[in-house]
Amino acid sequence: MRFLYLPVLIAATLLGQTKNPFAGKPEAIENGRKLFAEVCGACHGPNGEGGRGPSLTTGREVRRATDAQLFQSIRNGIRGTEMPPYPQAPEKIWLLVTFVRSLSAPAVEARLSGDHEAGRRIFETNCASCHSIAGQGGSLGPDLTEAGARLSLALLKEAIVAPNLRLADGYVPVQAVLQDGQTLTGVARNYNNYSLQLLEATGKLHLLDTRQLARVEFPGKSPMPADFAKRFTKVQMQDLIAFLSHQATRKIQ
Ligand code: HEC
Ligand code: HEC
Repeated sequence: MRFLYLPVLIAATLLGQTKNPFAGKPEAIENGRKLFAEVCGACHGPNGEGGRGPSLTTGREVRRATDAQLFQSIRNGIRGTEMPPYPQAPEKIWLLVTFVRSLSAPAVEARLSGDHEAGRRIFETNCASCHSIAGQGGSLGPDLTEAGARLSLALLKEAIVAPNLRLADGYVPVQAVLQDGQTLTGVARNYNNYSLQLLEATGKLHLLDTRQLARVEFPGKSPMPADFAKRFTKVQMQDLIAFLSHQATRKIQ
């Protein structure tokens, strides 16, 4: 009689390792974050931003891996690397999978709570001079109409509180000195051997032939203010990020 239970047990165990019972649940992401900071943070950074181990916020590997594969990597470790096994209860491993998944999932999937209207007002006052949403706003920085679909929550937060850490493609800050002595500052929309498209903060786009240029420098520092983390309260930051994370034309049910 006893082994009648065996298949059930095996099925339950296997199921327990292939299907994430917490997928996308905000509370599980939060609990996973705490556990992660405790047991994985020493290598991957407390928020998965990287350190001794790789960043889990940008990796294609994480995005491509299934939940079951992440579960296996976390439980068994990755052989031949520093990544150690974490042989704990499946619930704990699933919490970690949920958190790790949230790091690279499009921000819109996190379904953040927050006051979107307050977030919109903060955006209009502090950001819209450089960023557009749905055709409204400036163009020195990237269009954010699809911010929630294009960026993970981690990248979105990082872009706001630490704009110099990673510069958005096609918006690399540039300073060009022309043959006539004039200096232009802005972002390089395009740069090759023959030409430079330089966009100034005023919105003026210069199409420059490289022969007009005496010198081009890439200071590596974003024109975006770097002190928003200090300027905004925690609640304001939450409202702003909730508002931006919902900017996606493809809605998630
Ligand atoms: C001693 C350092 C260390 C600790 C602790 C550690 N990791 Fe890792 N982890 C690594 C290294 C190094 C890699 C890269 C392995 C490789 O080269 O494929 C890695 C890879 C990973 C990957 C795959 C990333 C990818 O893009 O392929 C995931 C997911 C991951 N770790 C999650 C975790 C979780 C969750 C924990 C906590 C239970 C944890 N790690 C603890 C060092 C560590
Ligand atoms: C003075 C102009 C300016 C202001 C003001 C500004 N930004 Fe930016 N922002 C930029 C530029 C330029 C970039 C591209 C370079 C970089 O990555 O820092 C950028 C990049 C970003 C990115 C990354 C986008 C991507 O596609 O990777 C986000 C998100 C962002 N800004 C959000 C904000 C928010 C939110 C505010 C207001 C709180 C703000 N910015 C205020 C100029 C600005």
